[in-house]
Amino acid sequence: MPTRATSTPPAGARTPRTPRARAQRFPEVPEGTAPEPAGRGLKALREAAAACKRCDLWRPATQTVFGKGPARARIVVVGEQPGDREDLAGEPFIGPAGLLFRRALDELGIDADTLYLTNAVKHFKFEPRGKRRIHKQPTPAEQKACHLWLEREIATVKPEVVVCLGAIAAKAVFGAKFSLMKQHGRWQTLLDGRRAFATMHPSWVLRQPGDEERELAYRGFRDDLALLTAVDDAG
Ligand code: URA
Repeated sequence: MPTRATSTPPAGARTPRTPRARAQRFPEVPEGTAPEPAGRGLKALREAAAACKRCDLWRPATQTVFGKGPARARIVVVGEQPGDREDLAGEPFIGPAGLLFRRALDELGIDADTLYLTNAVKHFKFEPRGKRRIHKQPTPAEQKACHLWLEREIATVKPEVVVCLGAIAAKAVFGAKFSLMKQHGRWQTLLDGRRAFATMHPSWVLRQPGDEERELAYRGFRDDLALLTAVDDAG
């Protein structure tokens, strides 16, 4: 994966002016711990990630939601973070956003079971509101703390193609400068030679205010995902 923001500014990098901009660009990784995987496969990675305490998101979450899918999938799909349903079940993309994603795949004739699905951040971050748990965006530091799991998953599955759903996933894979609005739906080449593209997050499609807007957003989302129909074995 390409070089991403680190807590130490790279030589020659211009330092952002405001503290907020600096924190976004060079987030500090919290001083938690992550156990070293006991082996090289996905099983060992999953077990190690289950005990990850690199940031504090593990505390209120039910469990680490690790990726799921064939160990040799040709396509890895990266979302943002698990939602309420995923946190309880321990599986990515089984809630409303996942259903919409699967509907789009189905309409494109792509078998969702051939894909490896994961997230940039592996714990559900939320704010309790009455009986509900409202999704909260992970901070840049939390995103960075979790990045090693995504890197290791991609290095282990060795997919041909990586698909990012939403800005957090896109920035985790392409780097902080990636603009989802400008660059979605276009193939990119990662530093390791893999092909990748980003599209909107299905939750963004669901959040559109009216039926017409939602339908339009859905069609754009599905059109972007149609890039996958050219990938061997996606169907
Ligand atoms: N949204 C995501 O980005 N990932 C999930 O697993 C569920 C919802």
